[in-house]
Amino acid sequence: MTPRRWGLVVALLCVAAAAPAPQVSALFSRGLAPVDLGATPDADRTAAACATCHADISAEWARSRHHLAWTNGIFQREYRRQPLDWCVRCHAPLATGGAASVGPVEAEGVSCAVCHVRDGRMVAARAREGSPHDTVAVAGFDSAALCEGCHQFAFPVVNEDSTVTRYTEHPMQDTVAEFRAGAHAGTPRECLGCHGNTPAGHRFPGGHDLAAVQHAAALDVCAARPGELRLRVTNVGAGHNLPTGDLHRHFQVRAWRSTAPTALFEAFIGRAFEPAPDAGKQVRVDTSIPPLQSATWEVKLRALGGAADEPVNVELRYVYTADEEPTARNAPGEPTYLVVHEQRVDPAKVPACPR
Ligand code: HEC
Ligand code: HEC
Ligand code: HEC
Ligand code: HEC
Ligand code: HEC
Repeated sequence: MTPRRWGLVVALLCVAAAAPAPQVSALFSRGLAPVDLGATPDADRTAAACATCHADISAEWARSRHHLAWTNGIFQREYRRQPLDWCVRCHAPLATGGAASVGPVEAEGVSCAVCHVRDGRMVAARAREGSPHDTVAVAGFDSAALCEGCHQFAFPVVNEDSTVTRYTEHPMQDTVAEFRAGAHAGTPRECLGCHGNTPAGHRFPGGHDLAAVQHAAALDVCAARPGELRLRVTNVGAGHNLPTGDLHRHFQVRAWRSTAPTALFEAFIGRAFEPAPDAGKQVRVDTSIPPLQSATWEVKLRALGGAADEPVNVELRYVYTADEEPTARNAPGEPTYLVVHEQRVDPAKVPACPR
């Protein structure tokens, strides 16, 4: 190596020593502070700054809930009920205050810069060949540790001045802990093993994506004994519980005969809460389904009313909000539920359940 080259290596080592790569856990405050981009020029904060060269990734992200995190109707309706600056920290992470500090750049939600830019430099798992960026390689950037910065947190302690500076011990969103405790804990690249794969990539499909939910939740029906149906929902494809994430998320399993709608059978899959002694809320019942596990229900055909040979409608719905059917005045302007599976079952032709 020539002396000049050695000089360059020493210079690079000095830069590395001056600005150590940040820890992945330091990129996000779990909702306690805005994401601070430091000395980043305004032009590099927008998604448009990346779209010229990263057209495919930008198009995927533009269709993601990350992009809609601030603007989506379900969030906005909930935020109007409880307009804490704390919510803004994760749903419009570049904003420094409450809703009044959300301009067009901040309204881009969980944008490219939120995950990839700090102090005018790029952060990623590693620099790619041909990259024009000054890139800091952050260990664990392509693991659950990155997602944990926003997808794992407890009920907050809300101070008298409506600020949030600390958390209770009761999980509000428990997605990363569910993943680590579940059957998919060893998935290579962890969350990205399912959510970051092409072609979906930066679209991060989840609960608002019919194909993703159908892939995650299987519904099957068999005859437990004469005159009795067994309904079963299995978490075949999610890396965490079904449902996970926001506390209002739940599934409804329903069976009914069209001539006897009031005799409807209905089961709730999700978490229900009660006030906790320290602050916030704690889980009262949790019927959410861990990875590769099932929940079953036995339904007596007679209890469903109607004629003995009348087909039975069976349905699985994913509901995003506490109110499945909001009144017109209170509607969030986007669907509040997704019909995941629906079938009509002929009671005479239901296969017997395996023993
Ligand atoms: C929620 C966080 C998040 C957001 C938002 C995000 N990315 Fe990424 N991005 C990642 C992760 C995680 C990886 C994979 C880790 C790695 O390989 O560095 C990645 C990888 C990349 C790569 C490397 C090439 C590849 O295909 O993996 C590019 C380029 C990139 N992102 C650009 C963008 C652009 C442009 C935007 C905005 C349109 C964006 N990202 C938004 C988290 C994010
Ligand atoms: C002038 C073109 C250009 C612009 C503008 C651009 N990038 Fe890149 N970027 C590239 C190229 C080329 C690569 C390396 C090859 C690849 O992975 O696409 C790259 C790589 C990356 C990587 C992977 C890490 C690395 O350094 O290899 C990330 C993350 C990334 N870009 C994010 C962004 C974000 C966020 C923006 C907007 C703030 C942006 N890029 C703007 C061309 C560009
Ligand atoms: C800066 C905070 C932040 C980070 C980091 C982050 N997310 Fe998100 N993510 C959000 C927010 C906020 C939403 C909810 C958007 C909304 O209001 O629907 C979301 C939504 C999602 C959804 C869609 C949920 C749905 O209902 O369809 C998926 C999937 C997801 N994130 C996966 C990930 C993964 C995987 C990672 C790590 C690679 C990650 N996120 C990193 C904040 C973040
Ligand atoms: C084995 C594949 C797999 C792994 C691993 C995985 N997920 Fe998912 N995830 C899914 C599928 C499929 C869905 C759609 C069904 C649903 O909404 O639960 C989903 C949904 C979600 C949602 C939307 C939740 C909601 O309320 O509907 C979020 C947020 C999410 N994942 C985040 C993560 C994070 C963070 C990790 C890592 C800790 C992760 N996922 C690991 C497959 C996976
Ligand atoms: C620590 C980060 C964080 C904070 C703080 C936060 N959220 Fe979220 N929120 C998320 C993540 C991550 C998701 C995505 C999980 C999912 O899709 O179920 C989400 C999802 C939601 C959803 C579901 C949106 C949808 O697309 O269906 C609503 C509604 C919501 N949050 C409202 C709020 C409100 C209101 C506040 C303040 C009182 C708040 N959030 C505070 C991280 C946060």
